[in-house]
Amino acid sequence: MKRRFLSVLLAGALAVSMLAGCGGGNKDAAETTTETTDTAAEDTAETEETDTTAAGGGLIGVSMPTQDLQRWNQDGSNMKSELEAAGYTVELQYASNDISTQVSQIETMISNGCELLVIASIDGDSLGTVLAQAKEQGIPVIAYDRLIMNSDAVTYYATFDNYLVGKTQGQYIVDALDLENADGPFNIEFVTGDPGDNNVNFFFGGAMDVLQPYIDSGKLVVPSGQMTKEEVATANWATETAQSRFENILSSYYADGTELDAVLASNDSTALGVANALAANYTGPYPILTGQDCDKPNVKNIVDGKQSMSVFKDTRTLASQVVKMVEAVMEGGEAEVNDTESYDNGTGIIPSYLCEPVVVDASNYQELLIDSGYYTEADIQ
Ligand code: BGC
Repeated sequence: MKRRFLSVLLAGALAVSMLAGCGGGNKDAAETTTETTDTAAEDTAETEETDTTAAGGGLIGVSMPTQDLQRWNQDGSNMKSELEAAGYTVELQYASNDISTQVSQIETMISNGCELLVIASIDGDSLGTVLAQAKEQGIPVIAYDRLIMNSDAVTYYATFDNYLVGKTQGQYIVDALDLENADGPFNIEFVTGDPGDNNVNFFFGGAMDVLQPYIDSGKLVVPSGQMTKEEVATANWATETAQSRFENILSSYYADGTELDAVLASNDSTALGVANALAANYTGPYPILTGQDCDKPNVKNIVDGKQSMSVFKDTRTLASQVVKMVEAVMEGGEAEVNDTESYDNGTGIIPSYLCEPVVVDASNYQELLIDSGYYTEADIQ
């Protein structure tokens, strides 16, 4: 493995490049794949003989934030199976949304001899020390979905276009309320995610770039007045937290019959909290409600008219892209990137690959989610 000089080589790899990616040596031993689940009680360990004739080879650490949300389970299992199909051994861990658990899991991956780390961070700012160790040992790091901040150990970043996710949500509200033509004013509230997740800045920033002009002109009004990043945040993106904040908003600002026209929720777990709060505390016309991820309960809600849209981020696409990155890096080359401007993690721009998000609503969920094989009909019943 050429990793000790790779980090030096990759430090300058800012050019957009396309490499075929895989190929290379066979594996020479039977391998162990360990998957650690969120809670100790659920811990599972499985040992697998991997096809030793596959291309690639080497131990890859995959660190996911939590199993609480459907998407990270999909991300983790897609990564694991695609990496294994490419001939790698995978140490996959989920960290129960607990920062110190994630740090110690990454430490273990390093001491277990992982040759590359793929990390979806819980808190982008908390991995500096452990990743300094990785860097010292020449272990490349790919930030998965969420950018790892203030660490010069990050080699690449792969995600969906987070700013576009936010803009798409904002534009959905503009179109649904016909803000260009209608007089308004319309009432809107905001619910975003964990403040330690750098994506929140892009989701909220993108949405506000679209919506702020209508707020400035008075066509959109925020009865709660809650609009700062801190006020609209949801710790850990938790459904219950979003729900209780929204119940307070409804009882404080809408109990007198004031109509709520739109809620910008940055993702599906928070949208679910809003929908639960609305079901129990609001009787007016149902508002436009955005989301992201196309989680199963949210797709059900879209079909039932309780959520207007979600942004579909096909986790298969992201996993495939990251596996291509892993292969390129493990072979000593440069990975394909398509953005070298947007994501500065505090130590400089991290070369990134941004996958494209897609709007899903009642009009196209069948085609995009069912016909594409992402879900079966039974999944969303
Ligand atoms: C991801 C979203 C996800 C959220 C909560 C974000 O970083 O980009 O897809 O809904 O975290 O897990």
